[in-house]
Amino acid sequence: MAGTDFEEARKKAEALRREIDEHNYRYHVLDQPEIDDYAFDMLMRDLINLEETYPELRPPDSPSLRVGGEPLKAFSTLEHRVPMLGLDNAFSEEEIKDFDARVRKLSGLEIIDYFCEMKFDGLAVSLRYEDGLFISGSTRGDGFTGEDITGNLRTIRQIPLKLEEPLTLELRGEVYINKKDFIKMNRDREEQGQTIFANPRNAAAGSVRQLDPRLAATRPLRIFIYGLGEHGLKVSTQAELLDYIAGLRLPVNDNRAICRGTEAVWNYCLRWQEERSNLPYDIDGVVIKVNDLALQKILGNTARSPRWAVAFKYAPEEKMSRVLDIIVNVGRTGAITPVALLEPVALSGTIVQRASLHNEDLVREKGIMIGDMVVVRKAGEIIPEIIRVAENLRTGKEQEFNMPRHCPSCGSDTVRLSGEAALRCLNLSCPAQLVEKLVHFASRKAMDIEGMGPSVAELLYHHNLVRDVGDLYYLNSGQLAELPRMAEKSAENLINSLEKSKGNPLRRLLFGLGIRFVGEKASRLLAEHFGELKAIGEAGLEEITEIDEIGPKIAEAVVSFFKMAETGLVLEKLEKAGVNFTEPTPEKTNSELTGKVFVFSGSLERFRRDQAASLVEDKGAKVSSSVSSKTDYLVAGDEPGSKLTKARELGVAVIDENQFIKMLNL
Ligand code: IVH
Repeated sequence: MAGTDFEEARKKAEALRREIDEHNYRYHVLDQPEIDDYAFDMLMRDLINLEETYPELRPPDSPSLRVGGEPLKAFSTLEHRVPMLGLDNAFSEEEIKDFDARVRKLSGLEIIDYFCEMKFDGLAVSLRYEDGLFISGSTRGDGFTGEDITGNLRTIRQIPLKLEEPLTLELRGEVYINKKDFIKMNRDREEQGQTIFANPRNAAAGSVRQLDPRLAATRPLRIFIYGLGEHGLKVSTQAELLDYIAGLRLPVNDNRAICRGTEAVWNYCLRWQEERSNLPYDIDGVVIKVNDLALQKILGNTARSPRWAVAFKYAPEEKMSRVLDIIVNVGRTGAITPVALLEPVALSGTIVQRASLHNEDLVREKGIMIGDMVVVRKAGEIIPEIIRVAENLRTGKEQEFNMPRHCPSCGSDTVRLSGEAALRCLNLSCPAQLVEKLVHFASRKAMDIEGMGPSVAELLYHHNLVRDVGDLYYLNSGQLAELPRMAEKSAENLINSLEKSKGNPLRRLLFGLGIRFVGEKASRLLAEHFGELKAIGEAGLEEITEIDEIGPKIAEAVVSFFKMAETGLVLEKLEKAGVNFTEPTPEKTNSELTGKVFVFSGSLERFRRDQAASLVEDKGAKVSSSVSSKTDYLVAGDEPGSKLTKARELGVAVIDENQFIKMLNL
């Protein structure tokens, strides 16, 4: 009988791998996920379980191996069969015309078709596939040999571990990190006292060029493919080549275009110079390539770079401003961050008047003094950053900045813990920390208490109405109405949203409590595993680390959080006030909706999209962002657009907001 079991497991594992690969592609390459993260995690868990029972069922291209292999002692090197060349630069329209004149002269043609692409600001890599399997990947290195970073590249979900055709070829591309992911990554690092990355490119390069694939797996790395190394493909233009690569399900950038002659090329350059701040990733220019591959071959290469391509480089937008003052900000975990207040200056589409200086070491490294004229730029085109001091403009009146010896909020001694870049206030009842904790507790992804932003939190604290998050639930409208700048209506709204928040699932409460290292995901995992808050509080290290994806660092933070006397007091207040301490199990609440797939389209009157989504998820249903044959209901709000058309085409049930509310028994 064992043989049959094995055969069944083999089929099941194969089907799971196919399904997971498909979802990976939809999510990471097409940006059109069909199932939510939770459903995806469940598929992956099933596969991992099967492969653990039958290790011989795990092929080297299994998506379960993306989590990262054993750390390396050092990188080995890999030789590039076709060298990875650099590009010549052009800095003006004139220089693009010079390049075009050379190409026309060498080819004898009058007008050239160019292929224009984004110049991604990341790290160049080469990927090698043999008989359709991803077998190795390397950095550019000196152009002839690079470092073997296969283990790290395998963790990038956009890279297929197996191609649909058994091809042997080398792909060239750029690994990068999106601006938003970079900001979040740095924010987390700052919270945890780690040093931060200067920009998305350094973050990407730092993540790829370190030895632990498990660490790489936690970094939001992405890739765009823009060319080939060794290959046997029969394609005749760069445009066809990229279409072909996209057809192999690898990520190719959409903003590519054929431009005939230099005028069209120049317009392309100008267009993306204007629009680059709206792109989700950093570009530092445009790459202009001769489109015809046969002509590329004729033109050939110099020792360093191809004669058939040139990079037009954008100057990063930089402005001068004056440091009016340096203040410090106390975060929710007590981390004290210096912030430069700047003379307002317009930069990449916004007015900049503050720039975080992150920590003391950075202020020293850059030598920033109060009163200095400084050069400002936006890191990742989003966060203002001081690049350097214009020392030649110093008057002698500038003042040195020192981090405070005492917390500016509570006066406690500030401490720099060993191994941390951040200075901290360790006083658990520090007002600034408490106010930040209230703000976090009320934030959208936590308890979602509308009307509890920073100014209200500050007001509540300074009028002695609230000392911790437990006190929030004992406020009454009379107390609130007496506060300055608080209208009767706002007071009422706040009370209502507090009342509503009591019913939130445990995962939101847990996230809101702000336990160190416990973000949204860990909160969900803990809530789902234990089902109720008390069980988490009673759990030991071992029990917690049994949960997949929860490591000892998180587990220790959870255990020590529940050991603190303060925690007990806050939880008691929350419980007495009737705040929900349990995580709903989908099956129990409403079996009719379990497993159904909802898509929302257009704006709803009574809910934000994320609220509506969590309502159906709490009932065991799933939410998808696009309509497909797997969709059960399209909830059509105002101006539902193309999703409605698609739903009608596919015969998917369309319901309006009222029907939706009825369906959920709200
Ligand atoms: S083509 C032989 N295309 O720019 C042609 N390169 O100095 C080689 N880069 O390190 C490169 N975006 O990593 C090409 N769309 C693009 C690119 C691109 C960024 C980087 C590449 C290389 C550098 C060239």
